[in-house]
Formats: sequence, C-alpha cells, structure tokens
Amino acid sequence: MTAVALYLDLLKGVLTDTLYAPEPDPNASDAAFLLQFTSHYVKGRAISMLPRARLDNIQACVFDVVERGVPGDLIETGVWRGGATIFMRGILKALGVTDRSVWVADSFEGLPEPDAERFPREAQAYHSGVMTNVFDRFADTEEAVRRNFEAFGLLDDQVRWLKGWFKDTLPQAPIERLAVMRLDGDFYESTMDALTGLYERLSVGGYVIVDDYGEDDWTYCRRAVDEFRAARDIADPLIQIDRRCFYWRRGG
Ligand SMILES: C[S@@+](CC[C@H](N)C(=O)[O-])C[C@H]1O[C@@H](n2cnc3c(N)ncnc32)[C@H](O)[C@@H]1O
Repeated sequence: MTAVALYLDLLKGVLTDTLYAPEPDPNASDAAFLLQFTSHYVKGRAISMLPRARLDNIQACVFDVVERGVPGDLIETGVWRGGATIFMRGILKALGVTDRSVWVADSFEGLPEPDAERFPREAQAYHSGVMTNVFDRFADTEEAVRRNFEAFGLLDDQVRWLKGWFKDTLPQAPIERLAVMRLDGDFYESTMDALTGLYERLSVGGYVIVDDYGEDDWTYCRRAVDEFRAARDIADPLIQIDRRCFYWRRGG
C-alpha cells in the first residue's frame, strides 16, 4: 500500500470510528440497524455516519476526477459532524491538489421541517420521538464542525462554508465549477434544492452521489432525483453502492 492509501484508510477508520468496533450492518433488519446506528453514530464518537463503502466511493470519484482532469470543486450538501467533507479535504491534501476547494453546505441547525401535505412520510419522521429526542434532527453547529476539521489538521482556506438552508445558499454560492457533488440532505426538498442549485455547474465527467436514493420508508429523496433526471433528460446510469446510496457520472 502507498502512503496515500494508508493515510486514507486510517482516516476512514477514525472518521467512522471503526478501528476497534464494527460498523452497523446495513443489511440487518430495520429495527436492528436503527439500534446499531443510534449507538454507533448518533451517541458515539463517529464524525461521519457513512458506511465505509460510501467513503470508498467518495475516494474513487475524487481520484477519478483528479486523474482525468475533470475541472471543479467538491461539495457535500448536508454534513452533520463534517466527516465526509473532512475526508474530501484529506484526499485533496494527500494527493497534493491545491487548486480545488471543498464546500461544506449545511444549515448547522438540522433538517428543515417538511410540508406535511406534500411529504407526509417525511413529516412523520421529522416529528417522531427518535428524530427529535435521539437524533436531534442531525443538528451540529458550524463551530463544532470547524473544530473537527481542525482536529485532523485539515481546516484551511481550501475549505469553504455555506451556512443556511440550501434553497437560500446554493443558487448564489460563489462556486464556478463542481467535479463531485454529494447530496446528503435526506429529504425531497433538500435533494431537489441541491440539484436545481448546483447541477448546471457540474462538469461533464463529474459525479453526483445521492446518499438516500434507496431509502423509501421516511423520505421522498428518490422521487426528487427521478423527477429532476426526467425533466433534464438525464439518462446516465444510476450505479448502486449499497442498499441506500447511488451515484451517476455526468455524461453530457
Ligand atoms: C444525515 S445528515 C448528513 C450526514 C453526513 N453527510 C455524514 O457524513 O455523516 C443530514 C444533514 O443535512 C442537513 N440538511 C438537510 N436539509 C438541509 C437543507 N435544506 N438546508 C441545509 N441543511 C440541510 C442537516 O442539517 C444535517 O446536517
């Protein structure tokens, strides 16, 4: 293994807190997964709630755009404690890339309240006891996320911050081009706002990763993606990473 691969492997282990403990099993039953998810990520020390396979996917996408010279920055919309964006910055650092930024987009106050008439399943999830009392609607502060970047020695001016609701921050964000956009805002509108606010700036050959595309019980994320792709005639194949997460590479 090269030093870059060794560093990135260690980073994935620390960010997901899987050096000494196994990660929650994404193929476990829903009830078992929820218990494991809560104790390992939400109540635990992990800085990202992504399974390792999804960090491997980020790594593959970033390596690919760097190797092929696909222009643009990297963004995650919906960062929680910041782990996936810390990983993106770590990859750029390890590869010696100095001309791309990592954009960190979040309300830093958790999920927005969904419209209960249009999105009943999301509203039910949003108001549920688990989401409110246990997950705290995935809120973390910008200061805490900055501290996490700092802890890894990765807080610098290649990290750019977009604080606020996606519908307000993304359309006018001072981003010229994107090479990788990772959407992890969970809900229909968060996903749609990210696609409509950013997709035009995604380079051909760049990647869109949708964390919750395969998640049907509590979100309409898949509907947002399908509607957006249909409206734009996007036929690039959707590739599955695991039960819930999918991505595509922009072909045209
Ligand atoms: C599931 S968490 C993200 C997990 C993270 N990607 C990781 O690596 O662990 C969802 C995040 O999306 C943010 N979010 C969702 N919808 C949003 C919106 N419309 N505007 C701003 N932030 C949003 C929440 O604040 C939360 O931090």
